[in-house]
Amino acid sequence: MSFELEPYPYDRLDGLREMASKHPGGAVDLSIGTPVDPPPQVVLSALSSSGAERSYPPSAGTAAFREACAAWVERRFGTVVEPGWIGACVGTKEYVASLPGFLKLREEDKGTVLFPALSYPTYSMGARLAGLRPVAVPEIPGGGLDLEAISLHDRNDALLLWVNSPSNPTGALTDLARCAEWGREYGVPVASDECYADYTWDALPAHSVLESGTGGVLAVHSLSKRSNLAGLRAGFYAGDPNLVSFLVEVRKHAGLMVPGPVQAAASAALGDEGHVRRQRAIYHSRLVRLANILTAVGVEAGLPLGGFYLWVPVPPPMGDCWDLAGWLASRLGVVVSPGIFYGEGGKYHVRVAAVVPEDRLDLLASRV
Ligand SMILES: Cc1ncc(COP(=O)(O)O)c(C=O)c1O
Repeated sequence: MSFELEPYPYDRLDGLREMASKHPGGAVDLSIGTPVDPPPQVVLSALSSSGAERSYPPSAGTAAFREACAAWVERRFGTVVEPGWIGACVGTKEYVASLPGFLKLREEDKGTVLFPALSYPTYSMGARLAGLRPVAVPEIPGGGLDLEAISLHDRNDALLLWVNSPSNPTGALTDLARCAEWGREYGVPVASDECYADYTWDALPAHSVLESGTGGVLAVHSLSKRSNLAGLRAGFYAGDPNLVSFLVEVRKHAGLMVPGPVQAAASAALGDEGHVRRQRAIYHSRLVRLANILTAVGVEAGLPLGGFYLWVPVPPPMGDCWDLAGWLASRLGVVVSPGIFYGEGGKYHVRVAAVVPEDRLDLLASRV
């Protein structure tokens, strides 16, 4: 067999979990960005009363779901997208992992997938799962992609460029309009993963690649982070009508369907902004508390521009991300993600997710 997978990143944290769990009260796990707060009641009611259990759900998404997505995009970003230019996905991880393979069916002579050098590992994995070539694009200090650094060969061979703003793991923001313009100029589809769009700080506005028009772009949105629905698996993609109609067709053949009751629940979630406002305040307060806790033990952590992660440099004279992650597990009983999970450039950082309830943060503070 020529295809070998390395261990799943978060499975490599078992040693840290064991060390952290020795603290009275157990480990405080801030490694995976999994939401823990309850979703709004209106969503749970829609989930249990849709009557959509019996029949197969439309793979593209129900008319009601696609209309709810279009209405949300217009409200959130002030841009109009036809419901027909939107498709449902079973959470966005499967979409990120499968998109390169599907686009390859459309453009057989190309084989490169471009993605930010420091990023969610599934961009690269999606390329590898399809037997394609993942190529990391360097980032500009402070945020954004150094598009000039992409070689002529990689540009000509690119099936797709991934962008992610706010970024997981760094929280940096990217000029999405600039990326879209680059993609249109060179005929490279730009897929913009916007699953943290609702979480920007310092009064910075959220942006979508769709604001620059739909030509040549796909915006990818998830209900997981916005509405604490990671367990339901719902998301959508919207953009270029040609790309969307191709993907809707191919995904239908592949049997990718968001369950009907989940589509009803996701539609209700998209129609409600109150719970998102409350969630934003919760994440911000957790980020500030976590930064203070880390500073109190001598690890300086700045706040991100967006997202709900702290991206924390390893303080000298400590070695690399594994050293800091090990030290935090033993000193505070906390499990964080070594930055190397997100690319070589992350070797001297750790990522801390603000995803535990307040009583766990009280426990952490008491260990300082
Ligand atoms: C950048 C990014 N994209 C996509 C996802 C996948 O989210 P989901 O599959 O829950 O929609 C995540 C999850 O952590 C993420 O951080």
